[in-house]
Amino acid sequence: MKVLVIGSGAREHALTRALSFDPAVSELHAAPGNPGIARVAALHPVDPMDPIAVAALAESLGVDLVVVGPEAPLVAGVADPIRKAGIACFGPGKAAAMLEGSKAFAKEVMKAAGVPTAGARVCRSGSDLAAALDAFGAPHVVKDDGLAAGKGVVVTSDRATALAHGDAIISTGGTVVVEEYLDGPEVSVFCLSDGETVVPLEPAQDFKRAYDGDKGLNTGGMGAYSPLPWAPRTLAAEVVRTVAQPTIAEMARRGTPFQGVLYCGLALSSKGVKVIEFNVRFGDPEVQSVLARLETPLAGILLAVAEARLGSLPKLRWRADAAVTVVVAAHGYPGDVRSGDDIAGIDAAERETGVHVLHAGTKEKDGRLVSSGGRILSVVGLGRDLTAARERAYAGVSRIQLEGSHHRSDIALAAANMEVE
Ligand code: AMP
Ligand code: GLY
Repeated sequence: MKVLVIGSGAREHALTRALSFDPAVSELHAAPGNPGIARVAALHPVDPMDPIAVAALAESLGVDLVVVGPEAPLVAGVADPIRKAGIACFGPGKAAAMLEGSKAFAKEVMKAAGVPTAGARVCRSGSDLAAALDAFGAPHVVKDDGLAAGKGVVVTSDRATALAHGDAIISTGGTVVVEEYLDGPEVSVFCLSDGETVVPLEPAQDFKRAYDGDKGLNTGGMGAYSPLPWAPRTLAAEVVRTVAQPTIAEMARRGTPFQGVLYCGLALSSKGVKVIEFNVRFGDPEVQSVLARLETPLAGILLAVAEARLGSLPKLRWRADAAVTVVVAAHGYPGDVRSGDDIAGIDAAERETGVHVLHAGTKEKDGRLVSSGGRILSVVGLGRDLTAARERAYAGVSRIQLEGSHHRSDIALAAANMEVE
């Protein structure tokens, strides 16, 4: 099987790495990729945001499967011309990608499908906004309706801050969604769907805030782990039954079937499992931990999704091991980041037992590896339990040299402590 992966982050490096271990994969390509991905795939300098160019690349390479990593190309409709060219594609078409492209659309689908989620109001004016904030009360949750690369959501008890965030979106012509606040721990459950059948992956948890103890600004994610020793064993099955299956059925009923991965971002609230958000791609860095634990070869799974044969896929096999991913971020992240710093120590990190390193914001410059972005590397540790996996991941992180970088030191700490009891 020849496979093309679209994207350039650590998520796409995790995907290409897993695909490279699959004996069914004969050729692996990526566009545009990154220096880590270049170790396992041939890179092509094609813009993921140009659907026609991506489809043309897939045709010229004669690939059997295209796997689209990030949301922006999916929301821009990259999957449609690929499918039109008769090539299997993992990732929803433009219409189904609206589940991530518009939070108001996602809320509407959830309502129609009877999926539990936070109550919400769509606001297009300052007066709508003020009324919605008062109706729900503090803490306030104010979201940009559209894609905002993780920067669109403000959760605050300060009404003025909530108003200012919403007003800023409305003043640039945007739409705001104000929501009821959900309490309880958050989990990510990735549900594969071929348009009809749903197969969940093992749940993971992400750490969104920049600093230890959940301090600092929201980021794209500073680390993740799987499994979740504290969560009910039935969690994934419950999410399929109450969230993913009804959503997939509703999308099919509308004539816009969803093929790819529905990322269910959930709050295990005091009133049960509720959806915080849908994404239409794998979570980064959660998937780095989830794929490290997946034993079933990946290409066959993704192809079964893209060819609508998920119903006949054998049950997925998982390693008993736990996986912990720690993100090494650039100086200044998630604010203004500094680029061009030398990166060293990746080979030393990978010599640590059970450790591999995935590239995100890296590039080659005059034969050196330098930083170029916010999240630079994902260091993944695999061990017999979360305590062992953490030790390995942090042993790996300690080998990385990148001036001014920062990482969280408490990824999976609370969960590992629960495991011991
Ligand atoms: P989102 O981009 O929708 O995932 O939101 C980013 C983060 O904001 C989530 O991971 C949560 O931590 C928080 N958040 C979003 N919606 C809510 C909500 N309704 N209640 C509480 N926290 C929320
Ligand atoms: N880790 C959060 C996300 O991928 O959206």
